[in-house]
Formats: sequence, structure tokens, C-alpha cells
Amino acid sequence: MIKAEILRNREIAPEVFLLSMRVPESFSGAPGQFVMVRFEGLDFPLLGRPISIHSLYRDRKGAICDLLYRVVGIGSAVLSRMKKGGRLLILGPLGRGFTVRAEIERVFLVAGGMGVAPLFYLAEYYRKCTGGRKREIICFLGARNADTLLDLERLRKTCSEVLICTDDGSRGFHGQVTQLLAAEMGKYTGEKTAVFACGPRAMLAALSRQIAGESFPCEVSVEEKMACGIGACLSCAVSLRGGAYARVCKEGPVFDIRELDWDHGSTE
Ligand SMILES: Cc1cc2nc3c(=O)[nH]c(=O)nc-3n(C[C@H](O)[C@H](O)[C@H](O)COP(=O)(O)OP(=O)(O)OC[C@H]3O[C@@H](n4cnc5c(N)ncnc54)[C@H](O)[C@@H]3O)c2cc1C
Ligand code: FES
Repeated sequence: MIKAEILRNREIAPEVFLLSMRVPESFSGAPGQFVMVRFEGLDFPLLGRPISIHSLYRDRKGAICDLLYRVVGIGSAVLSRMKKGGRLLILGPLGRGFTVRAEIERVFLVAGGMGVAPLFYLAEYYRKCTGGRKREIICFLGARNADTLLDLERLRKTCSEVLICTDDGSRGFHGQVTQLLAAEMGKYTGEKTAVFACGPRAMLAALSRQIAGESFPCEVSVEEKMACGIGACLSCAVSLRGGAYARVCKEGPVFDIRELDWDHGSTE
């Protein structure tokens, strides 16, 4: 467990906050990994809340980790009220992140709503780790409406292209992000493509059906309610194809989309 000082914590969209915290130099999370967040000096909420690493970078004083989170209940509400200088108790980085493959030439990021939280860090990671190779990073960004499109400007700076859609048609393609992907994907040809996705379970299930006949790698980050975050309590189990179970906090949160049983095994 480390103590992290809050540097900034501001609302960037309705009920969505971007928090920056000072972390030790040795903190080295990979894209897709997460941390369990608790509050110094507060006994409630007792359990940590899992939040993905949204970005990890340095300034002159050391390392900074960003978290992007939506206020949905008691823990995230307490977090949203924390001010600059407040301290968090951080367990992590935890879990298994996305696979970063040097040979991949085109990266598709498919982000639904808060799903952009881990994918932004993956985009940054792929951009920095090009190894001299020209690589396309194409982000499909979906939200309910224009006001809830998250991280658009930062994604535009990081990705080669950002394609937008909204459920109500107030900006970009009118429809869901998987529909946008289906409409646009045929324009891109060639080998060495990988797809990474995060978003509501229904969106990921739709993606799994959509890519069933394809051969490219596709990894997804999934969410389950968590208690311990370290593989001990089994509260985060999800079903795998073939009947086995996996712990989201330990074997995940990132899984090969073809590994998961999308018809069973979620607490949602
Ligand atoms: C690996 C992982 C990474 C995550 N990364 C992020 C992130 O980057 N940004 C972000 O905003 N959220 C993220 N979440 C979801 C986040 O953990 C929950 O929104 C948070 O724990 C809710 O806590 P709360 O006390 O505010 O809400 P609670 O009062 O505990 O619950 C409020 C509502 O949220 C639901 N909920 C609670 N925990 C989860 C959960 N783990 N998954 C899905 N629904 C939940 C409850 O069923 C309830 O409907 C992540 C979850 C996981 C498992
Ligand atoms: S949260 Fe306890 S095993 Fe995953």
C-alpha cells in the first residue's frame, strides 16, 4: 500500500473527474492495470475501489498517475470531494494489463463511455513504444451524447485518428460504437491489426459476436465488483468458455475476448 498525494481533482464532464496524484518513482503500472483506492484517515468505505490507470508520466518532482472516474456511488462520491493535498491509500498496480506487441502496425481502440479510462493510457503507450515503426492508432469513441464524450482532445493528440459516435446522434455517427466500428473497419486493410476495447458488458458482448469470424487479436478490459483486488476473495469471478472461472482482479481485468463466456458469469 502506498500513500499518494492528490495534485488535482477536477470535474471534466458531468459527474466525471480527472484526478492526478503523486506516486513513488518506482510505481510502474502497465496499460490495463488498475489500483485499489482507499482514503487515509477514513474507515468508510472500508473496501478499496478499483480504478484503472488512465495515464502515468513524470514532471520535475517525480511520477504522476492520473485516474479518470465517474461518480456512481459512495466511494466515488467521497473521492470526488477530495482536494489538492489530500492523501489516498493506493494498492497496486494490480491485475494483468493489455498485451503490447511491437509487431502490431494498426491499433484499434474501441471505447464506450468510461471505457476510455484504460484505453487512453494504452494509446499513449503504443505511441511512445513505436520503436521507429510507423503505427496507426485509431480510436472509436462512443458516448451517450456530445457532453459525455471523454478525453476527445487528448485522444486527438495521441491517436492517428479519432472516430466519434453518440447514442443520441448529437455528435458524430448516430449509433453505438460497435456499429461505428462495423461501418468503418472495412476501409482499413492489411495484416498486423489488433483491437482493444473497454466499455459496458453489452458493448463488449456485441463486439465478441462482431469479430467472431476474424483472426486478429482482440483484448477487452472487463469490470466486476471487487472486495480484495488481489485474488483472495473470489468476488470478481467471471465465466470462461468451457466452464472454468477466472478472477478479474488477478487473471484480468484484461482478457482475450474469445476466452470469455459472454452468455454467463457476470454480476451485472
Ligand atoms: C478493474 C476495474 C477498473 C475500473 N476502472 C474504472 C475507471 O477507470 N473509472 C471508473 O469510473 N470506474 C472504474 N471501475 C468501476 C469502479 O470500480 C466502480 O464504479 C466503483 O467501484 C464504484 O464505487 P462506488 O463506491 O462509487 O459505488 P458503489 O456504491 O459501490 O456502487 C454504485 C453502483 O456501481 C456499481 N459498481 C460498483 N462497483 C462496480 C464495479 N467494480 N464494476 C461495475 N460496477 C460497479 C454498483 O453495482 C452500483 O450500481 C473499474 C472497475 C474495475 C473492476
Ligand atoms: S476482488 Fe477478491 S478475488 Fe478478485
